[in-house]
Amino acid sequence: MPRYLTLGSIPRKRHTAHRTAPGYRNEGIYYEEVISTQGFSRAYSIAYHLRPPTRVKRIEPAGSCPVERIEQSVLRHHHIKTGNLPRSGDPVTGRVPVLTNNDVTLWRCRPNQPQGELYRNAIAEEIIFVHKGSGKLLTQFGSLPFKPFDYVVVPRCTSYRIDCDSVSADLLVIESSGGIDFPRRYLNPDGQLKLGAPFCERDLHGPADLNSIERECETPILIKDGTRLTRYILAHHPFDVVGWDGCVYPFTFNADDFEPITGTVHQPPPIHQTFESAGGFVVCTFAPRMLDTHPDAIKVPYAHSNVESDEVLYYVRGKFGSRRGVEESSFTLHPHGIPHGPHPGTILASKDVKWTDELAVMIDTFRPLFLTKQAMELDDGNYPYSWME
Ligand SMILES: [Fe+2]
Repeated sequence: MPRYLTLGSIPRKRHTAHRTAPGYRNEGIYYEEVISTQGFSRAYSIAYHLRPPTRVKRIEPAGSCPVERIEQSVLRHHHIKTGNLPRSGDPVTGRVPVLTNNDVTLWRCRPNQPQGELYRNAIAEEIIFVHKGSGKLLTQFGSLPFKPFDYVVVPRCTSYRIDCDSVSADLLVIESSGGIDFPRRYLNPDGQLKLGAPFCERDLHGPADLNSIERECETPILIKDGTRLTRYILAHHPFDVVGWDGCVYPFTFNADDFEPITGTVHQPPPIHQTFESAGGFVVCTFAPRMLDTHPDAIKVPYAHSNVESDEVLYYVRGKFGSRRGVEESSFTLHPHGIPHGPHPGTILASKDVKWTDELAVMIDTFRPLFLTKQAMELDDGNYPYSWME
């Protein structure tokens, strides 16, 4: 969780009247909303609205967004190229599911239109990795600018609109059933990111401007809980917050601010870890870095069997030294129980290389992943044999 933050106007003591005049219906106060996680037991924020946040005029079914899992007849490696996915939809409706299990679904999104209505994921956190594009995430917590290679971490139940600066945005969305945290080992007993952790509080950016909206007009909001979609028509615009404080809010962390840890010989993937979802998966950032310095170091990863996890790499930028044939926006899935390793020729090719410019996002899940119907259509069936080339 990010650190405590406060923005705008809040009363000196929580749960007391935050006075204003005349106020909604002349009641003379702003309206408190507690946004808390794990019941009332973990991180929370408290926001103050111009009007009660419960003013719903209509509730309508809005369809569903099923994620179709494909059962495989064999266990094998996969290479899924998504760079040429046709652009369609908006930053929410344009999402195409690629890989999924009960803990996480990975979506690609290449929108070609602005977001049509406000959106809120009621049951999952979202990490929106900005592969291309810039803009602002507008929420009840304020405006949060984003740029290429930002992880935009959006707590569940945050109402938002993604306003892109252009139509060329390209997103990877990691939808997580569990809460998103930093690795516990990065935190000292005081809750601060340790010296030596690959990033610190200074690298995390919360909303900067509140831009409170006072607008009494019907405002639709699309709410997703699992595959079900519901449209709430609110009586006023929900971004009417005049102030808030707490530890639950959207924030960004840029992958280029990840400080890589290197060694004289190859370091294992956990040194790249960035986020974790307890019991479900971890997210790692393979950032540009110096390669191993031992004179006999083998500078690409050793072959390995991830016996208890499925390993997904999403290739973002640069040349990935251990892999041939992958390109920007490729996914590889190296599943549980079978080995994978550097492609033939890459050990020798990297012998005198001192630096890698690769940028990739890895998602290691603890339970098996399924390809979706859309991913199967992009899957390279010859990839499992590519180590024979
Ligand atoms: Fe691997």
